[in-house]
Amino acid sequence: MDSIIVTGNGPLNGQIPIAGAKNACLTLMPATLLSEEPLTLTNAPRLSDIKTMTTLLQSLGAEVTQMQAGQVLALSSHALDNHVADYDIVRKMRASILVLGPLLARDGHAVVSLPGGCAIGARPVDLHLKALESMGAELELREGYVHARAPGGLKGGVVEFPMVTVGATENALMAATLAKGTTVLKNAAREPEIVDLAQCLRRMGAQIEGEGTPEITIQGVDRLNGATHPVVADRIELGTYMLAPAICGGSVECLGGRMDLLEAFCERLDAAGIAVEETERGLKVARGNGRVKAVNVTTAPFPGFPTDLQAQMMALMCTAEGTSVLEERIFENRFMHAPELMRMGAKIDVQGGTATVTGVERLKGAPVMATDLRASVSLILAGLAAEGETQVNRVYHLDRGYERVEEKLSGVGARIERVRET
Ligand code: EPZ
Repeated sequence: MDSIIVTGNGPLNGQIPIAGAKNACLTLMPATLLSEEPLTLTNAPRLSDIKTMTTLLQSLGAEVTQMQAGQVLALSSHALDNHVADYDIVRKMRASILVLGPLLARDGHAVVSLPGGCAIGARPVDLHLKALESMGAELELREGYVHARAPGGLKGGVVEFPMVTVGATENALMAATLAKGTTVLKNAAREPEIVDLAQCLRRMGAQIEGEGTPEITIQGVDRLNGATHPVVADRIELGTYMLAPAICGGSVECLGGRMDLLEAFCERLDAAGIAVEETERGLKVARGNGRVKAVNVTTAPFPGFPTDLQAQMMALMCTAEGTSVLEERIFENRFMHAPELMRMGAKIDVQGGTATVTGVERLKGAPVMATDLRASVSLILAGLAAEGETQVNRVYHLDRGYERVEEKLSGVGARIERVRET
C-alpha cells in the first residue's frame, strides 16, 4: 500500500486547480440508466471512486468511456443486460446504492447489494428504501441484497424524509423523474451536488422544481433524452486546499472555487482570522504571520458546515490559539483522525460526538495511519505545517477523493512525495 511523505516546508504560494465534485459525479453517472440515449459528463474528476462506479455501470451492461484523460465521461445504457449490483463492487463504494432508484424507474426491477457499514458509521440505507416504497416499489431483503420490483412502474408520491439524507434524496429524485404522476420530496437535502443532479436531469428532459430547497417537486415523464453536463466544482476538495495556506501561511488561489458552495465554511475561516477573497478565477486564501484563532465548529447538512470538512478543520485548530470545540452531528464515528493527530503532538479530547482541541504552537511530524478519505487528507494538511517528516500510510483512502494530491500541493511549494509500496 502506498504512503505519502510530507515535510513541513513553510508558507505555500501559487494556484491549485479544483476538480469536478466526486459526490456530484457519483450520482450523475447512474443517471445514465434513466435514458437509452448518451449522457456526457465534462469536468469529471479522475478518482478511484469514479473507476469503481464505471465498473459497476459496465457490469449492468452500460457503456462508459473515459476521454480526455478521464475528464470527460461518455455514458450510454441503451441496452442493459444485468440488473444485479454485485456485493463485490457495492462493498467497495457505498454510493453504488444510487443505481437502485434509476434501475427501478427504468425497467421496474433491480437487485442491489446492501452496502454495509464503513469506518465512519453504520450508514444504513433504510431511508432510500422507504422513499422508493412511497413511490410504489415492492422491496424484499434477502441474503444481503435488496430485491426491488415496481410492476407497472413507479407512481408519484409524497416522500417525507425524517432526517436530511443526501443519498436517499438523490435516489428518490432520479426515480421520480420516470414515475407516473407527481412526486414531492419533503425535508430534502439541499447540497450543491443535488442541485447539480437536478440541473443535469432537467437537461435530459425531467420536470423538476425546488432543488436546493427542502421541498423538491418532480412531474414524472415517459422518457428522458441524452444530454451533456459539466460536473460542478468539488466544494470539499476546495475547502481542503483552502486550509493548506491557512495552516502553513502564504497565499493560494483555488481555481474554479465558488464562495456560494462553502459559505458556512468560509464564515468559520473568517472567524479564525483567515481572509478569503473571491477572484475572477476562484477563491484566494491568504494568511499572514501570527497564529490562527481557535473557533467552534458544528457540522450540519447544507448550508451548514460540511461534515466532509470537519477532519480538515480539526487539523487547522490543532495549531490555533485557544481552544476549539468541534461537534460532529452527521456521522457517529468521524473522529478517527484525532488519535493520529495526537501522535503529532495535538491536544484533543474526544467525548462521543464532541472533540475539544487545545491549540499548540507547532505539530511534530510522525508516521500516521489514514483511516478514511477525509481523515487521510487532514493528516496531510497537518504534516504540511508540522516540524519534520510525516509519513501517511494507507493512502488508498486518499486516492478515492483527491486527484493528483502530491502534484497539486507541490505546485504551491509543499514538500510531498508518494512512496509506492513495492
Ligand atoms: C453523502 O453520503 C456523501 N457521499 C458523504 O461524503 C457525505 O459525508 C454525506 O453525504 C453527508 O453530507 C456521497 O455523496 C457519495 P447521508 P450519504 O445519507 O448520502 C443517515 C465523502 O467523504 N442515514 O446524507 O451516505 C446516515 O447514517 C463522503 O465524500 C440513515 O440513517 O450521507 C448519516 O448519519 C463521506 N439512513 C446521515 O443520515 C439512510 O437511509 C447522513 O447521511 C441514509 C442516511
